[in-house]
Amino acid sequence: MLQASDLRAGYGSAAVLHGINLSLAAGERAAILGRNGVGKTTLMRALSGEISPTGGTLTFQGTDLMPLRPHERARLGIAHVPQGRDIFPKLTVAENLKVGAAAVRGSADAKIDEVYDEFPLLAERQRARGGSLSGGQQQILALARALVSEPKLLLLDEPSEGIQPSILDEIAEAIDHINLARGITVLVVEQNLDFAARIAERGLIMDKGEIIENVAIAELHDDRDLQRTFLAL
Ligand SMILES: Nc1ncnc2c1ncn2[C@@H]1O[C@H](COP(=O)(O)OP(=O)(O)O)[C@@H](O)[C@H]1O
Ligand SMILES: [Mg+2]
Repeated sequence: MLQASDLRAGYGSAAVLHGINLSLAAGERAAILGRNGVGKTTLMRALSGEISPTGGTLTFQGTDLMPLRPHERARLGIAHVPQGRDIFPKLTVAENLKVGAAAVRGSADAKIDEVYDEFPLLAERQRARGGSLSGGQQQILALARALVSEPKLLLLDEPSEGIQPSILDEIAEAIDHINLARGITVLVVEQNLDFAARIAERGLIMDKGEIIENVAIAELHDDRDLQRTFLAL
């Protein structure tokens, strides 16, 4: 579904991604793991189109993504939930979801009703301001806002960050549902290895702007050496 080859990107003259090779099959769930500052968020931005790659190739379902702007990639079915979630704190839950629907064709109301069915807590709090929700609820709202655009590929950047452990189950269940019931392919950045192991099968370990290992997360879970070398554990 998604194929990156020797993908390069950065900020101005500062190169961050030094040749990313990545291949994701439809329906798969994979996690990008790695220490702070290795380029995980930059990779997500290069995939969503927020920053323009400076080299290499990138295709989605056979379409060349390299020249496409973020809204064009969104229209092809790529949704990005950025690190820190980025919901609109002053808008209500309902208004946040409408913003998610603005990019798509067809009836927004039906799509929003669908996410209310999937996430009853959002239905209950439709008129609450986004900023009044807990961190976990804001993450659910950010996921739901992405779902309203009916994506094929969901890019999630550290969905567990800053969320109380007791709420992590709900986030994991939401991601399960997104993948299994909706059939959406998920690429998630995580620093929480336990959480990553619950939501993804395959782990892509990043270091210094490259993907250096492709492992089953279950194995990584038991490999203290690999963890010590490449993860902040
Ligand atoms: N907007 C930016 N402008 C310039 N440099 C940035 C910007 N965002 C991140 N960087 C730099 O790019 C590198 C990778 O950052 P990032 O992709 O956020 O890493 P990670 O998500 O793995 O923690 C870091 O050295 C960081 O300082
Ligand atoms: Mg990051």
